[in-house]
This record gives sequence, C-alpha cells and structure tokens, in this order.
Amino acid sequence: MFVRIKKSWELPESDVTPESIYVQRRTLLKAAGFSLAAGLIPTTSMGTSAGFPSNLNPKYPAGDLNVTKEDLITSYNNFYEFSFDKQDVAEQAENFKSEPWTLEISGMVHKPQKFDVNKLVNQLGNEQRVYRFRCVEAWAMVAPWDGFPLQKLVELVQPTSQAKYLRFVSFLDHEMAPGQVRAPQYPWPYNEGLTLAEATNELPLMVTGVYGKPLPSQNGAPLRLIVPWKYGFKSIKSITKIEFTDKMPKTLWSDLAPSEYGFYANVNPEVDHPRWSQKQERIVGTWFKKQETLKFNGYGDQVAGLYKGMDLKKWY
Ligand code: MTE
Repeated sequence: MFVRIKKSWELPESDVTPESIYVQRRTLLKAAGFSLAAGLIPTTSMGTSAGFPSNLNPKYPAGDLNVTKEDLITSYNNFYEFSFDKQDVAEQAENFKSEPWTLEISGMVHKPQKFDVNKLVNQLGNEQRVYRFRCVEAWAMVAPWDGFPLQKLVELVQPTSQAKYLRFVSFLDHEMAPGQVRAPQYPWPYNEGLTLAEATNELPLMVTGVYGKPLPSQNGAPLRLIVPWKYGFKSIKSITKIEFTDKMPKTLWSDLAPSEYGFYANVNPEVDHPRWSQKQERIVGTWFKKQETLKFNGYGDQVAGLYKGMDLKKWY
C-alpha cells in the first residue's frame, strides 16, 4: 500500500520478524505485566458501547471459516492517520477520542442530518457477521464484526433520484493523528466511495465492534465501513461524514496513485496490482501459509450482478 519508499534502516521489527513470533512476543510481554511497567503495550481505547451485546446474523456465521484471533485483528492494522507501521498503530491510537462522535449525512438525500453515533446505533441495532477480509497488500483475515447494515442507514436518509454515489470522509485532527502531520503529501482526511447500488447491497456493514466488543481505536472507532468483497482500503475507518452525490468521488488512494488503486477495488485474482500478484493471499497469523484469492473475496453470489457487463480490468 505504501506509496512512499522506505529506507532499509526504517524497517520496523515486524518486517524482519515472522509475524507469529512478533505477536507471541508482544503477548508474552503483556502477560508479564510489561505493559503497565514500561508502557510498551497500550491498554486499548474503545469506541461506542451502544448496541452490545449483539446477536449473530445466521446468514453470516463462521461456518468453515477459520476466524482470526482477536489479538491479531487488534494489533495488525492499517490506519495511516496514526502510523505507517502496522504493529505501532494501536499504541499511537491509544489516546484517540472517539466519544462523543457525530456522523453527518449530506448532499442528495431528502433527510440530511447529523447523528450522534450512540443514538444511531441504539436506533438501528447491532448484529454480528463473520466476514472474510482481504487487503490489497495480499494478506487476509476473517473477522467477526458487529454493526448495522449500511442499507438501513441509506433507507433512513432517503436518497433523491439524482444520487448515484456515496462519499465517505474520515476525521481530520492533527493533534490526535500524528500520521496526518508526518505525511502532509496525503490528501487528508482519508476518504472513500461506493456506488449507491453497492451501498444498498446486503453486505456492507457500518461496524461498531469486533469480537462482540466496542471497536478499538486502531480498528476505526467508533464507526467504520466494512465492504467484504473489496480490498480493505475501501473499508474506511472513523467516519465523520457521508455525502450522497451524482459524481464518482475521488478517493485518497486513487488520488495518490491512480494507476495502482481504482475506485472499484473489487478483490480479483485475475487483475494483478502493478507491483505484485493478486492470485494468492497470505493468512495473517502465519508467515508463509498462502491460499488462492477468491473473486469478489468469495462473495460473488451476492455481488457479481452489480458488475454485469463491466470490464473489471478497466474498472479495477
Ligand atoms: N481508514 C482510515 N481512515 N485510514 C486508513 O489508513 N486503512 C485502510 C482501511 N481503512 C485506513 C482506513 C486499509 S489499507 C485497510 S487494509 C483497512 O482499513 C485495515 O483495517 P484493520 O486495521 O481493521 O484490519
């Protein structure tokens, strides 16, 4: 995902240590009480506690999926507002203040409004879904997310007949997000987009938790998107605004590197990233174990119809 080229001396420990050993080491340190003594491991700060406990939606159970361990999901993160090093994000996000939090809906809707996130979650309710998660960097996880379908939120605000796209915007705060200061060349705030047809598909989830608990800051508290058939960068974290529009929105990554990251970003083993293959993926928690990438990340039954007749090589 990096656009900036790292110098060899900047390599984090995680790049040179097999991940299982790295995580094991952190867990051992934590168990030994080092987190309190030396402040090495942050105590996780959490998002909204509204809507818990939630019930599993029986349509999306773990089934045969091998669910990734909680400590991996919450310690191996991409959240560039805080750090460019996956294993440092949790610590950098420790003091992120995600409560109170307002979500603003604007643009081509009949009911533009500002929601207090706790009230919104109480109104729409949480459910749990187990989804595959695939990053464009070719690693994969399986996570049990808690949240409400984006579909329900779209219904609530009633798009006008002109609305064709949703533009999602994350927060901008130089005090809380050191990455926004360190990478001034990035077009902050992080932003992403979906078509209205994608947003009203049954799968996209507005996520408020993982493993039945409020979302930790490093995973995008208090409210993030999860779009399981697209590369992980579409799943924008800590959302403050959603604008309904008739124009395909620009997105942070397509702005930075348009030939590498497109608007659609559907998981697709047939379309390689210009710098690496997408045919296989590494399972997070293992260092060498690979599996075949599935088209639409295995969600073709639910979403292939959205792209009928489209050239997915052109619309990557
Ligand atoms: N959202 C924001 N605001 N900032 C980010 O840097 N990174 C994206 C996505 N959402 C990102 C973001 C990328 S590249 C990925 S792979 C996923 O979040 C990672 O989600 P996770 O840390 O919960 O696994």
